[in-house]
Amino acid sequence: MKNIVFIASSLDGFIAREDGDINWLNRYESNTGDDYGFKKFMDSIDAIVMGRVTYEKALSFPRWLYTRKVYVLSTTLKEIPAGLKDKAALLSMNPVEVVKHLSEKGLFHLYIDGGKTIQSFLRYDLIDEMIITWVPVLLGSGIPLFGSLNGDIHFSHVKTTPYPNGLVMSHYIRARE
Ligand SMILES: NC(=O)c1ccc[n+]([C@@H]2O[C@H](COP(=O)([O-])OP(=O)(O)OC[C@H]3O[C@@H](n4cnc5c(N)ncnc54)[C@H](OP(=O)(O)O)[C@@H]3O)[C@@H](O)[C@H]2O)c1
Repeated sequence: MKNIVFIASSLDGFIAREDGDINWLNRYESNTGDDYGFKKFMDSIDAIVMGRVTYEKALSFPRWLYTRKVYVLSTTLKEIPAGLKDKAALLSMNPVEVVKHLSEKGLFHLYIDGGKTIQSFLRYDLIDEMIITWVPVLLGSGIPLFGSLNGDIHFSHVKTTPYPNGLVMSHYIRARE
């Protein structure tokens, strides 16, 4: 079982502006076709666990980006649109129950996405790896990647890859006692 974060953050720790805008990432879109390892990462996981707000953002993109089934966490959504029913499903459970439910379906390597969602998994100490791409910008305010915890959570640094455009991708693994 492995729950992994793969996300881009501003230097000051925001994953979107307060209104959800992520256009500040556009200037880093590669014109050489480099996807910063996204496809390789997607191929390595079994399913995606995504917060409702991130899912709604994903619905606004010109195309569906995910090649693994997306489990959308929500207490408010009632239904997935007909055209997406083979690609996404709704869950309303706490992180422990989510992991148990998906493991019973044979889904063990999970991509955890969305700020509040990542924070809730961290509060249960259910994040095993984090691949964070640090974007060299300060936004000043926005939707935070991290939040309050019940205690310190230590990670070991695996590697850091700097890109010529200033992005820095760092890979961390949970350091358990
Ligand atoms: N920079 C990047 O790489 C990156 C990556 C991903 C997302 N983003 C951005 O981050 C923003 C969204 O992050 P966010 O922190 O606002 O929210 P989020 O984690 O995407 O969604 C939060 C919502 O998920 C639902 N939820 C979470 N845990 C739940 C649980 N255990 N059970 C039931 N429902 C649960 C709740 O929905 P209900 O209110 O329906 O109950 C909650 O309001 C978007 O703007 C997105 O574009 C950026």
